[in-house]
Formats: sequence, C-alpha cells, structure tokens
Amino acid sequence: MNVQKIKDGLVIDHIRAGTGIRIFNWLKLDKVPFSVALIMNVPSGHLGKKDIIKIDNVIDVDYSVLGFIDPDITVNVVEEEHVVRKISLTLPERVENVIKCRNPRCITSSETTIPHVFQLVDRKRAEYACQYCDELYRAGIGEFL
Ligand code: CTP
Ligand code: ZN
Repeated sequence: MNVQKIKDGLVIDHIRAGTGIRIFNWLKLDKVPFSVALIMNVPSGHLGKKDIIKIDNVIDVDYSVLGFIDPDITVNVVEEEHVVRKISLTLPERVENVIKCRNPRCITSSETTIPHVFQLVDRKRAEYACQYCDELYRAGIGEFL
C-alpha cells in the first residue's frame, strides 16, 4: 500500500500488528488538524505483519510510554522529507500513571491521589511489578489508565 512521504514529523514503524490503533488513540491523532496516517497489516519480514503511523507534524511523544506499549517500535524523525534520526525503543525501567494496579487490596485502589508506579522486574518476559504491592503485570497487553 502506498502512502505519501511526510515533510516534517514522525514515522512510527514496526508496530506490532493490531497495536497501531491503540497508539493512534493514545496520541489523540483523531483530533489533530495536520495530516496523519494509520496503516495496518503491512507485510513485514518473514510472513509477519506490522502497523505504521505517519504524522506530518512535529509532536511531543513520551518514548518511555511508547516503549512500554511496544518495545520493538522504531521512530523515524523526518526533517525536510529526509529521515534524520531513527530511535529504537526499549521497555522503560519504570512507568508512572500508565497502567492501574488490579489488586483490590493495593493502596492505589483506596488512595486515589498517589501515583500508579510499576517497575520493570523481568525484561525478557516484559514483566512489571506494582511498587506498592508487587502485583505483576505483563507489558503490551493491557488497558491504560
Ligand atoms: N518515510 C516517510 N516520509 C519521508 C521519509 C520516510 O513517510 N519523508 C517513511 C518511509 O516510507 C518508511 C519509514 O519512513 O516507512 C522509514 O524510512 P527509511 O528509513 O527511508 O526506510 P527503511 O530503510 O526501509 O526503514 P527500516 O530499515 O527502519 O525499515
Ligand atoms: Zn498494587
């Protein structure tokens, strides 16, 4: 599928197929006045599929949250129609107010003012633990706050 090149902005590439729409919504790209594209199920590599998001505008993206959603993403920074930087993402050591602890006995369930903090405990398994109660959470599958 052919989608035009962008002039100045970001191309978020190698998104796990099916996850592009979540990132599109998280970045609130349905409400923006500039050109954006969500391309889904693009053939990639060995019979795999990926999603791509093109954003023709310079926007701020929290790369730690993006890495938490999908650490295999590459972000291409485009200036004057050329890719000037490729940013590889990784799972962040810590996420704050991105996911909610499911444990009903966790302090975050009763105290609404304290932040929801999770620490990476197993990079291979993409496993995070709640800072307060150690409830485990697997990155890349869940709901956002
Ligand atoms: N791209 C774009 N507009 C530009 C330049 C690049 O939309 N002005 C897109 C390309 O279509 C591609 C992505 O940005 O989807 C990365 O571009 P490039 O690095 O040129 O492609 P590849 O070398 O194929 O990237 P990779 O090896 O990371 O897959
Ligand atoms: Zn907890």
